[in-house]
Amino acid sequence: MGALGATNLQSEKRYAILDNDWLAVGFLPFLLAMKGGMEILGLVSVTGNSWQKQCGLHALANLEIGNLTCIPVYQGATWPLINTPERFQAWESVHGKLPFQGALGPLNVTAEQQGKNPTSGDPNRVTPEAFVEGFPKTNFNNSTNAASFMVQMVHDYPHQISIYAAGPLTNIALAVRMDPLFASLAKELVIMGGYVDSNMLQTSGSLEQANINSDINFIIDPEAAKIAVNADFPEIILAGNVANQVQPTQGFLDEVYQFKNSFTRLFHDHYGTRFPFWDETAAALMVDRSIALNKSRGKSYITLFISKCYEEIELISE
Ligand SMILES: *[C@@H]1O[C@H](CO)[C@@H](O)[C@H](O)[C@H]1NC(C)=O
Ligand SMILES: *[C@@H]1O[C@H](CO)[C@@H](O)[C@H](O)[C@H]1NC(C)=O
Ligand SMILES: *[C@@H]1O[C@H](CO)[C@@H](O)[C@H](O)[C@H]1NC(C)=O
Ligand SMILES: *[C@@H]1O[C@H](CO)[C@@H](O)[C@H](O)[C@H]1NC(C)=O
Ligand SMILES: *[C@@H]1O[C@H](CO)[C@@H](O)[C@H](O)[C@H]1NC(C)=O
Repeated sequence: MGALGATNLQSEKRYAILDNDWLAVGFLPFLLAMKGGMEILGLVSVTGNSWQKQCGLHALANLEIGNLTCIPVYQGATWPLINTPERFQAWESVHGKLPFQGALGPLNVTAEQQGKNPTSGDPNRVTPEAFVEGFPKTNFNNSTNAASFMVQMVHDYPHQISIYAAGPLTNIALAVRMDPLFASLAKELVIMGGYVDSNMLQTSGSLEQANINSDINFIIDPEAAKIAVNADFPEIILAGNVANQVQPTQGFLDEVYQFKNSFTRLFHDHYGTRFPFWDETAAALMVDRSIALNKSRGKSYITLFISKCYEEIELISE
């Protein structure tokens, strides 16, 4: 299997930096990585589902639940490289409205008071109502920012760090532009996103199909996505739309909650069954490439097709 094989995974220490637009139930990717024997150097936040600061606070809160506050959280870019809510909404008026718009959707104060994460408006505001997992008591590490942290780390641990990016690729693009060695010194870039073959489903007439087949992470910061996927990472893993086939069921949530702790309670009560295991699938592929049942190698990236993710997710119920 060459570069795709898992042969040297046991012998070599593996590190990860997890970059995400973290939400209230966001712990699964870092637990999967830890369970897989990876050392997590830090979590970083990016604007995507909501603004970066709100998402970073969700990361802190999720770490606190597991007494994992030894893992630092660094704040990433608040703004996409070029995009703004106004520009995004203008794009929608040309190309059609997206069912989910993340941070760039219209401001809705009522929805925020009812627990929705902030969209539009002041990007630095925080809505505590959205923290069903509990509002964090710990703080960001302000000694540096996401892109500088990632650049520093790949120099400290050359060719050993998996950069996991499950939100827009703004921080990755900034790191690529800041340091010409950044991409080549990383071990790999693992992206949740990269839907290159499901655009037709956006026009099927079903809002739900359009929703889950719209690559919101790429759409929120398309310039960053272009920079990241064209950078010379030794390997780029696109989980792409395979994650859309890995769907939680109520039976699965109940099964996990047979083992009771604060993580399983949060998962059971708030994960829901509406959306697939997107970020979890990408994390599982980072941890164990052998779960990929079908792989296509593109010019500079690889798309992976999997169907065994449930076994990986079940690790948390042990
Ligand atoms: C975290 O620590 C608290 C206090 O020591 C403890 O009650 C709780 O069970 C711990 N949580 C986990 C997930 O280990
Ligand atoms: C704002 O959010 C509320 C509560 O979720 C919803 O009922 C209302 O339709 C939203 N307003 C707009 C303009 O979307
Ligand atoms: C980092 O800065 C924020 C303000 O942006 C502050 O709330 C927080 O306490 C700071 N963190 C630390 C560890 O001082
Ligand atoms: C913040 O991170 C830096 C490395 O970027 C580290 O040296 C420092 O100890 C951290 N500070 C705290 C309070 O954890
Ligand atoms: C693997 O994926 C390719 C591209 O989608 C497809 O043509 C092929 O049939 C798949 N092979 C298997 C064994 O599923």
